[in-house]
Amino acid sequence: MFAKLFLELTEYAFFRRLVWKPIYEMLARVLPVSEWQFMNYGYVPLPEEAPLTLEAADELQRYPLQLYHYLASRTEVAGKDMLEVGSGRGGGANYIARYLKPARMVGMDLAANAVKFAGKTFLQPNLEYVQGNAEALPFADGSFDVVINVESCHAYGSVPNFLKEVHRVLRPGGTLVLTDMRGEPGLKLLQQQLQDSGMTMVEETDITRNVVEAIETEEPIKKERIRKLVPKWLVPAFEEFAGVKESAIHRDLSSRDLIYCRWKLQKAG
Ligand SMILES: C[S@@+](CC[C@H](N)C(=O)[O-])C[C@H]1O[C@@H](n2cnc3c(N)ncnc32)[C@H](O)[C@@H]1O
Repeated sequence: MFAKLFLELTEYAFFRRLVWKPIYEMLARVLPVSEWQFMNYGYVPLPEEAPLTLEAADELQRYPLQLYHYLASRTEVAGKDMLEVGSGRGGGANYIARYLKPARMVGMDLAANAVKFAGKTFLQPNLEYVQGNAEALPFADGSFDVVINVESCHAYGSVPNFLKEVHRVLRPGGTLVLTDMRGEPGLKLLQQQLQDSGMTMVEETDITRNVVEAIETEEPIKKERIRKLVPKWLVPAFEEFAGVKESAIHRDLSSRDLIYCRWKLQKAG
């Protein structure tokens, strides 16, 4: 209920713009640790999705990385120009650049510290990180074939502004793949905003169960990382933020007070 309440408070654009940026700036500043690469709740694939083979060094990141893999795999990425809006600590854009081989992968985030961290940590010839705002993308019209957005748009002052910007920077026929969570009214609103985006809704899948399973399976890894990285008195707060079993986010997703969905939208060709 707490996670749902917080997300509902963030119903107000000014509140969202006010609270999220300092949180993400602070996290990247105080914990510039290369082992911590993601800030999403992870994903366990559907039975019909092929298991993901990873290099040994990436195994520790399996669950958050799977959220990227099974979202990005909804569309053709190899050889394309791709943008991530809300790239956070950069692990997702790095995974896509290395494994799915777009010609160009740009990770963009509002938090300057997160962008700096990602740019120092992940070095690939087809990968770059830039600072920018989802509501005013710093790119020319028609610059990308694919835009990806992972667990980020709940933080934007205006989702319609963000979608308008995605539509602008996509080439004709380009794709937006997006995933996030909302309570019931917030979900209806987001669905309407996606319908009104000028892009065609191609797929919508409720993946709440898959995210809950990831939270439960990944718990020992998260607990161990937090124990290693943060002072003892901050452990409960970090466990709550990271989402462990019985955290507010785990409870709200398990009870379906929060619903987690993924979407694919297409700009007209
Ligand atoms: C929960 S994190 C997810 C990060 C990343 N997608 C991942 O899965 O690890 C949300 C991210 O959205 C970014 N964000 C929030 N508001 C933004 C905005 N207006 N424009 C761009 N990024 C924003 C935050 O700085 C944060 O890094």
